[in-house]
Amino acid sequence: MAKNRIKYVCSNCGHEELRWMGKCPSCDSWNSFTEELVEEKKSSKKKYSGEPSFTKLNAEAHQSEERIKTNIEEFDRVLGGGLMPGSIVLLGGDPGIGKSTLVMQAAAKIDGDVLYITGEESVNQINLRAKRLKIHSTRISVMTETDLDIILNAIEKNAPDVVIVDSIQTTYKTDFNNAPGTITQIRECTAELMQLAKKKNSAIIIVGHVTKEGAIAGPKVLEHIVDTVLQFEGEKSYSYRILRAQKNRFGSTNEIGIFEMHDDGLKEVKNPSEIFLSEREKEITGSVVTSSMEGTRPILLEVQALVTPSSYGNPQRVATGFDYRRLSILLAVLEKRANMRLSAQNVFLNIAGGIRIDEPAVDLAVCCAIASNFSNKFAQNDMVVIGEVGLGGEVRSVSNIEKRIQEAAKLGFKKVVIPANNYKAAKVKSSTEIIPIDNILTALKTIIK
Ligand SMILES: Nc1ncnc2c1ncn2[C@@H]1O[C@H](COP(=O)(O)OP(=O)(O)O)[C@@H](O)[C@H]1O
Ligand SMILES: [Mg+2]
Repeated sequence: MAKNRIKYVCSNCGHEELRWMGKCPSCDSWNSFTEELVEEKKSSKKKYSGEPSFTKLNAEAHQSEERIKTNIEEFDRVLGGGLMPGSIVLLGGDPGIGKSTLVMQAAAKIDGDVLYITGEESVNQINLRAKRLKIHSTRISVMTETDLDIILNAIEKNAPDVVIVDSIQTTYKTDFNNAPGTITQIRECTAELMQLAKKKNSAIIIVGHVTKEGAIAGPKVLEHIVDTVLQFEGEKSYSYRILRAQKNRFGSTNEIGIFEMHDDGLKEVKNPSEIFLSEREKEITGSVVTSSMEGTRPILLEVQALVTPSSYGNPQRVATGFDYRRLSILLAVLEKRANMRLSAQNVFLNIAGGIRIDEPAVDLAVCCAIASNFSNKFAQNDMVVIGEVGLGGEVRSVSNIEKRIQEAAKLGFKKVVIPANNYKAAKVKSSTEIIPIDNILTALKTIIK
């Protein structure tokens, strides 16, 4: 007879312990352990002695790589060209960010039959959303179901091209005594969907909620099982939403898709630079435009800095959309190499538009924005500043310099500051004026007037 015992599972990473712990020893998250029942199975110690079967590795003998296009350009690019039949995509994101909206809009444009399974909304609610999003596709079948066995049966019988499961947290298997949304349920349900996807050659999109508290299972547990992990993110106060690939067996993880949320759904943002710069105030100190590569696309962004004297002993350093530690390093470089007395100043840094960047190529712009506001002088406003800053105050070369310059020229910028080494390595031709710079001091003299 099966004996039930209790184990504790970290809802963030799936680590298991026999007793409850405050902090997960595997992923260091706090208060993430939840109690789950384990049903022990008698293990059979029989050895397998059948004939093993091999095939020779053959690069030519692969199945066609035909993808199912969602026909939403931003979505397809992040997927690496579209959905791969027989694969599973996990779409994660905070509640309310727009996951259901995105999959619904994709469902409407996919060339193929789509089965939309939801455990979160009623058919009426789905129809209302479809009306709001102006979707009139006849190829979408809707099913409100949370029982995995019924879902698997529906996929098995209909073999749709694309299946959407919204969301994995509401789906459960009756064989397990654990509640829907627990690690065991999520892992088992995903594994079974995966097997069926491979068998039926359907592409399955699984929607998963992620909360910072880790109350509901984070995607870490599923990352190993699924083929692609997409994260849909954005600041609640902005209408921009960014789709990123965190893992992709069929494409690059560098690409991002940018959307804007409207009343009638998500709109693709095809010229992000224009939008991110649209509210830029030109006559303002502490504002510098730079270029960040997001996948294969350069995006122009405004870096804003505010430097104010600190009346307390400990000056504040706040970075929005930029790595805090990187900011500390750049402040130290400015202090030491450019002789700026920033240790008694509060420094606030913001990347306008609610986007997050973590590319060293924006270092120089960050330094210039801080120096500009600190010295109360304007940085040249018809200029894009590109370069990584080293600890010695040297300006280091960056990747994809030509694409970045092209984007700056396209948006009408007259001058582009680039690392001197990039200038030497690639004889860049452009209608805009190129200013090569090799260290932070010359940069500040050239850019800040
Ligand atoms: N009736 C509505 N009118 C306008 N916008 C709405 C409406 N309902 C939802 N939204 C927008 O859609 C978002 C929720 O999208 P949804 O796809 O349901 O999120 P998720 O599935 O990620 O929880 C809301 O944050 C809101 O911006
Ligand atoms: Mg939803």
